Amino acid sequence: MAYQIRKAAVIGSGVMGSGIAAHLANIGIPVLLLDIVPREVTEAEQAKGLTLEDHTVRNRIATTSIQKLLKQKPAPLTAKKNLDLITPGNLEDDLEKLADVDWIVEVIVENLDVKKSLYEKIDAVRKPDTIVSSNTSGISIDAMAEGRSEDFSKHFLGTHFFNPPRYLKLLEVIPAASTAPEVVDFMTAFGEDVLGKGVVIAKDTPNFIANRIGTYGLLVTLREMQNRGYSIGEVDSVTGPLIGRPKSATFRTLDVVGLDTFMHVAKNVYDKTEGEEQKVFEAPEFMKKMVENGWIGAKSGQGFFLKKDKEILELDPETLEYRPAGKLKTPSQEMAKAQKGFSAKMKTLVYADDRTGELLWNILAPVLRYSAELNGEIADDIVSIDNAMKWGFGWNQGPFEIWDAIGVEKSVAKMKEEGHDVPAFAQSLLDSGNETFYKEVDGDLHFFNGSDYEAVPVNEKVIDLKRYKKKHGVIKSNSGASLIDLGDGIALLEFHSQSNAIGLDIMQMINFAIDEVEKNYKGLVIGNQGKNFCVGANLGMILMEAQDDNIFELDFTIKTFQNAMMKIKYSSKPVVAAPFGMSLGGGAEVALPAAHIQASMETYMGLVEAGVGLIPGGGGNKELYMKHLKGMPNGIDFDLQNVASKVFESIAMAKVSTSAEEARENNFLNFVDGISVNSDHLIYDAKQAALSLYENGYKAPKREKVPVTGEPGYATLLLGAEGMFLSGYISEYDLKIAQKLAFVLSGGKVPYGTKVDEQYLLDLERQAFLSLVAQPKSQQRMQHMLVKGKPLRN
Ligand code: NAI
Repeated sequence: MAYQIRKAAVIGSGVMGSGIAAHLANIGIPVLLLDIVPREVTEAEQAKGLTLEDHTVRNRIATTSIQKLLKQKPAPLTAKKNLDLITPGNLEDDLEKLADVDWIVEVIVENLDVKKSLYEKIDAVRKPDTIVSSNTSGISIDAMAEGRSEDFSKHFLGTHFFNPPRYLKLLEVIPAASTAPEVVDFMTAFGEDVLGKGVVIAKDTPNFIANRIGTYGLLVTLREMQNRGYSIGEVDSVTGPLIGRPKSATFRTLDVVGLDTFMHVAKNVYDKTEGEEQKVFEAPEFMKKMVENGWIGAKSGQGFFLKKDKEILELDPETLEYRPAGKLKTPSQEMAKAQKGFSAKMKTLVYADDRTGELLWNILAPVLRYSAELNGEIADDIVSIDNAMKWGFGWNQGPFEIWDAIGVEKSVAKMKEEGHDVPAFAQSLLDSGNETFYKEVDGDLHFFNGSDYEAVPVNEKVIDLKRYKKKHGVIKSNSGASLIDLGDGIALLEFHSQSNAIGLDIMQMINFAIDEVEKNYKGLVIGNQGKNFCVGANLGMILMEAQDDNIFELDFTIKTFQNAMMKIKYSSKPVVAAPFGMSLGGGAEVALPAAHIQASMETYMGLVEAGVGLIPGGGGNKELYMKHLKGMPNGIDFDLQNVASKVFESIAMAKVSTSAEEARENNFLNFVDGISVNSDHLIYDAKQAALSLYENGYKAPKREKVPVTGEPGYATLLLGAEGMFLSGYISEYDLKIAQKLAFVLSGGKVPYGTKVDEQYLLDLERQAFLSLVAQPKSQQRMQHMLVKGKPLRN
């Protein structure tokens, strides 16, 4: 049976159900969102004369959840219009509609009996082969499948999303004993390729993988804090980025998740375990009191932390009063920061003889032992456990990677010294004469399976550039970028400067890359796997030159930048840009002239130079304008001024898209550009796009003149900007920047409709850029951005 999900139904429109429905809509799958029929009419409904018989009342729960999607932060939808793909309904009137869908996801209250009674109804209406899954956090999948028809049982499994479903990478797929293997295979591939998730196969055990280990780790940390007198703020100050975990560290993560949800998840394991393990899952008394008081975190405005008059306060677990949040400051933290590489940092921290070292050792060591004990029981291998923790909890390294980093032999010796039993799995590694859970064999990663090493399964769509370069080397490299042979005739230009900011080194590499690709390759991908694609040009360098009045050098730099962008545009071989994350200023300018953009779904793109007192200087003004023009149908009259105004607004307001879909709505992407839902597939997808362009006979675009709005257009744009200044929306200096931008976009002193050369527009842009960069207020803006990381409105 070849499965295909053309239409889905989500049942339960609460926190998770509405988020899952939004994620499906984001990727273009129509969803039916069903919830229960309300028991009573609201006052507002009554006032309108509505009764429980009316359709709007009966669908109210799902309808309200759908409307809420527009207000939630972070936004569950990648574009507002995706809402049209979600149809609300209720479980009494619309049950029959489940016969039309290919996948039904159950996301209702966490209660076995309620879920089972829903499945009975679904069983009666679903068509054969429809996949049914539960988003349960921890109820047994086997128990839920009990009593169902054979076809239902074969097609039933757990699909555990993490909150919020759009953003969290992990999807745990949990087969029941009855699930057909082909259904598990299909959902795994569907989860990765279509839903864009990192899929981990989990066994049907309490809380599956990530929440089992994650909850354990959180509770161990809570106890350690209480027993040894650390404060909440102190713990958070060393359990975040310092050890490769999210900024929200321990307690702020709990505040975001919600203490109510956390307690529920912890209780689930508590009920299903015994002995020493069970004791850990008993939440401390003060947390129970917090829940009683309604201090459940972000949802209620206070939890472990409370923000008061801009000050962050932490809860004192003893007195349940709030006090200014503390921080640990110990020598080992400073020493670790000075070390290079995760392993050196972690060794410095966990073996340190100070309060940070003791805390980290005491909270990490139990998690490592617990993970080793559970390996085999909750997952087939350590790779699944590590991936689950990385994708579900945002850790940079999973437990076994952490264990390797701190040294297995040394840490096991310390555990034994402290009187702990070392799990057989970890002992077997050392007994077999090995030192690490992972090791490289001929450039490929292998993992320890209890007796031997096995290759970590590699999905061909997941290209890990660090590993790839180690194995295959580079064609050429400098301090800012490298050119890599990706195989099959495609080369990759990778930025790796600080924050991937564009400086002369990257520009040189672009020139070299295009020359090399035109001679020896079929196409080029511009992409990387840093934190963000590129946050813009090297502002520090620009500011330094500007402060030294090195206008000649700046002119040269901007010219080189513009020329490199034109080289990308007119390359005879296809260039595919692969932006993701922040793709701002120069980052957007690199993508715009490419033959094709293959963007990650999570791409935040915009020409934001106005925020630092500048306008784009690498051809971005012209390129965004031309991209808008390219979208206009041939032979149909349109108002050129509208186009210029739209581009003007986008750049003057430094608009940034909140997704690739929105970047498309803003015309940074057009309808042929691609979006990769799975960010790990981005380089692969971009490579395929380059190959396909080449194979379809790619030719460089013809050089064409660009129609501009000229002097009348300039006046129109200016009028708009002046209006905004007069009504107080923009500052006087914003207006000055807007004037320069208006001049560039309208093509200067020419009549409306004049067709000008691209180079002419580039020259206007360069002159405007150079005049702005010399202004003290622009320099203040740049300085502010460099020091504070946010724009200054002066
Ligand atoms: P929620 O309370 O926000 O939503 C539950 C929804 O179920 C509500 O819309 C409610 O109207 C509906 N419902 C209640 N009784 C029902 C019934 N008898 N029949 C059909 N629908 C009914 O809950 P949430 O947080 O969205 O959780 C839903 C499921 O997802 C649970 O199984 C939970 O364990 C799981 N989950 C929750 C996560 C979270 O962070 N909240 C994370 C991962 C899984």
